[in-house]
Amino acid sequence: GIQRLNNFTMNQKFMFKGLILAGGRGTRLRPLTHTIPKQLAPVANRPIIHYVIEQFDDAGIKEIVVIVSPETNERIQSAISSVPWNLNFTFVIQSEPLGLAHALLTAETHLKDSPFVMYLGDNLMEDALSEYLNEFSSNQYDALLLTTQVPEPSKFGVLVFDKENNLIDLVEKPEIPPSNWALVGVYFFTPRIFDFAKRIKPSRRGEYEITDTIKELLKNNGKIKVSKLKGWWLDTGKKDDLLIANMNVLKSMTEHKIDGIVSGDSGIHPPATVGKYTRIENSKIVGPVNIGKNVVIKQSVVGPFVSIGDDSFIEDSEIDRCVLLNKVFVRSVNLSNSILGHRTKVRGSGSNKINIQVFISDDSEIKL
Ligand code: TTP
Repeated sequence: GIQRLNNFTMNQKFMFKGLILAGGRGTRLRPLTHTIPKQLAPVANRPIIHYVIEQFDDAGIKEIVVIVSPETNERIQSAISSVPWNLNFTFVIQSEPLGLAHALLTAETHLKDSPFVMYLGDNLMEDALSEYLNEFSSNQYDALLLTTQVPEPSKFGVLVFDKENNLIDLVEKPEIPPSNWALVGVYFFTPRIFDFAKRIKPSRRGEYEITDTIKELLKNNGKIKVSKLKGWWLDTGKKDDLLIANMNVLKSMTEHKIDGIVSGDSGIHPPATVGKYTRIENSKIVGPVNIGKNVVIKQSVVGPFVSIGDDSFIEDSEIDRCVLLNKVFVRSVNLSNSILGHRTKVRGSGSNKINIQVFISDDSEIKL
């Protein structure tokens, strides 16, 4: 009995495929997304999409379809192939970002024979996929949706329940939210969903909405399960969420590994990851932090919750809760809650150091 049931669940699980949506415009993470696809924005010095792929890998999902845009196709493919995954990727170009349901339909030929998990390529969640995969496959649902309470539901797809807690409606970015239960960017579907994605019309904002697609499924007596998330969930396609994602990932970091050279009157409070050839001189590092390779840190306090990309230079500064990309130069400022793009320069004056919060994209320069 039990043995057979386990086998059934396991087989079902290995049939599952993954779908990552990594197209889109990324307007809410401008100016960073003028030069970096948002799915490649770094969290603890790794592109967000790597965490998404890791979730599939951990759940035993080996076949992954990635939707990309014509502009970001090459960079996303090369960022994924920079790691030797033991997974099969199929890249599909969505010619225009016409909405999540449109992106889903673009992948139909690759997903029509198996259940699959659709994961927004800029989303991160703490819960493991496997927690929900078993539930989905053993109950023959048409869809399993994840939900969590959010402070600003009007920015999300929102779920509506009746008194018995049955899902009765879904609304996309409602002005007056009927509840504060948001639809999380991770969806479990069977290929049945494609029939409904084909029936919908573009919404007021001109997009083929996944919420409308699910609504069609609901109207046609689809069996939909809604599960409440246990851990955190972030939509990193916005500045604050990217910084919070960086904090959460660093918080869960247990490794303490110093490959660089620490000299002078310096101290490192774990956990910290410091890459090769990095030099820390007369500075205090307060974990959790992730510092890349070939970085120089002098007369500074770095951390907590800071990620610094390779080849950066920090002097006479205090930095906390920040994401710094590669080749960043920071001198004589106190920086918090900031995102600094590649090769940016921020200089203050040594005598009168001020506190700043900035969000600047690649090659920008600030002199105070
Ligand atoms: P969104 O963040 O909803 O859309 P967007 O990327 O256009 O962002 P913004 O609103 O800031 O302009 O998209 C969620 C994920 O889905 C993201 O990884 C991009 C991807 N996506 C597609 O692949 N195709 C699409 O047509 C859309 C709209 C999004």
